[in-house]
Amino acid sequence: MNIVTAAFEVSPFAKTGGLADVTQALPLEWTKQGHNAITILPKHRGINVDEFGFKKTFLTLNVPMGFSTEFAGVWEGKFPNSDSKVYLIEHEAYFNRDGIYGNPDSYFDNDRRFIFFSRAIFETIKALEITPDIISAHDYHTAYTMAFLRSYYKHEERFSKTAGVFTIHNLAYQGKYDPWRVMDFSGFGMKEFYPGSWFEKDGVVNCMKTGIMFADKITTVSPNYAQEIRQPYYSEGLHGVLNQRGGDLIGILNGVFYDEWNPKTDEKINIKFSSDNLDQKRANKFSFLGSQGLTNNDDLDLPLVCMVTRLTEQKGIDIIRERLDNLIGDKKFRFAILGSGQQNYVEYFNYLKWKYPRNAIVNIGYDEWYAHNLIAASDFLLIPSRFEPCGLTQMYGLKYGTIPIVRSTGGLADTVDEYIPEKKVGTGFVFNNYSADDFEFAMSRALDTYYSAEHLNQIRLNAMAQDNSSVKQAIEYIKVFGWALEKFNK
Ligand code: ADP
Ligand code: GLC
Repeated sequence: MNIVTAAFEVSPFAKTGGLADVTQALPLEWTKQGHNAITILPKHRGINVDEFGFKKTFLTLNVPMGFSTEFAGVWEGKFPNSDSKVYLIEHEAYFNRDGIYGNPDSYFDNDRRFIFFSRAIFETIKALEITPDIISAHDYHTAYTMAFLRSYYKHEERFSKTAGVFTIHNLAYQGKYDPWRVMDFSGFGMKEFYPGSWFEKDGVVNCMKTGIMFADKITTVSPNYAQEIRQPYYSEGLHGVLNQRGGDLIGILNGVFYDEWNPKTDEKINIKFSSDNLDQKRANKFSFLGSQGLTNNDDLDLPLVCMVTRLTEQKGIDIIRERLDNLIGDKKFRFAILGSGQQNYVEYFNYLKWKYPRNAIVNIGYDEWYAHNLIAASDFLLIPSRFEPCGLTQMYGLKYGTIPIVRSTGGLADTVDEYIPEKKVGTGFVFNNYSADDFEFAMSRALDTYYSAEHLNQIRLNAMAQDNSSVKQAIEYIKVFGWALEKFNK
């Protein structure tokens, strides 16, 4: 199949979260599976084109934006260690900026940047003379590709059999914008904007809704989230729309690209390990703690509980901060966090660091190397999310024998099972209610397990044996693409 992936962030070029991991894993797996997969993202300022070997092409895109036309350049390259092609759309004014969505707050003209990028996808495909079977668009930033495919481009021979598949990564972000701007930039005009139209929700433009309505098939990133978002609590107001398209909505569990995340081969970590030599995991922890300035006087054997996360309300920090201070004070474990985001959470974690300089390791910022090292070194990975469409870090934790402590929501519920000591089954510690009490109880179960060598070993083996490979995920997407194409082959 010829598959075009359209995304605003793609690892290792540009990343703020799990979206980039998925838009990397899928095309790489499809390429390995024999498909012709190309990936298109903006040429953000932060992308080091020399490091990745991107070359500027001679192509110039003419991208219609309402009544005017704007120009863009195209850079060509590949994913590292793969033949899977990657194209960067170059536009000085829209993309030569710090950050991906803002710095740090959202750019005021993100609506325009997203519409432009979505339209440029088609012009790139035309310039490259590709005939795509599938346009696979991710999250609301690229949602308008679905509308463009079914309007301006459907009459062009090249796109006449192309199906659009839209993937929802997180309904908390929908792209709600002023219709006077978006209907103009997109060229549809205000005549298409009325209560109940596919562009409108609650009186404003809603990109997520547009993607959902125009797509041939809609996927989201775990089976459980696909169910949850049909209910008001998780739908962020879109349950009506999602139920309307319910027959075309499919949950596919994200997978891990094990070439990148595997403790046996991970180039980023100090001491490699596997389930055959778990003593090396302990050595890895000591090495990491040493790099953080701790010494043998600091009881390095204390259980290490970590978090690697965006600091937003979604991630459940509100419930843990009711207890974390006292729990760390009891000195039953050491806490470590790598995160960036909302200032109130940053201040809270900096306070913990100030209060417990040797028992709270706090790194505020975004650091890929540190993320690998912290996950590898820790004994437990805490993910108390209020909601979590899928979550990738718990799956990284499983692979590294770093036992997840999670709230049972979204993809966390699909990937982590409570450990049952009597049966020696299960891969983590799971709590149901979004409450500090339940969190604390899950922590106590985890810490008890740490002090039983037999059970600690068992749960680690269970976790490390779980297969969450992106190979499976990629195959599931191909099935959905097949269903999306069926209507053209009748
Ligand atoms: P989300 O996409 O909601 O942030 P996921 O668990 O799906 O959650 O993916 C998060 C990804 O971002 C993981 O690859 C994780 O390692 C990475 N990550 C999150 N915060 C940081 C950070 N501060 N530094 C480096 N990597 C981070
Ligand atoms: C979103 C979600 C996260 C998911 C990721 C990749 O950022 O918050 O749960 O794993 O997308 O699909």
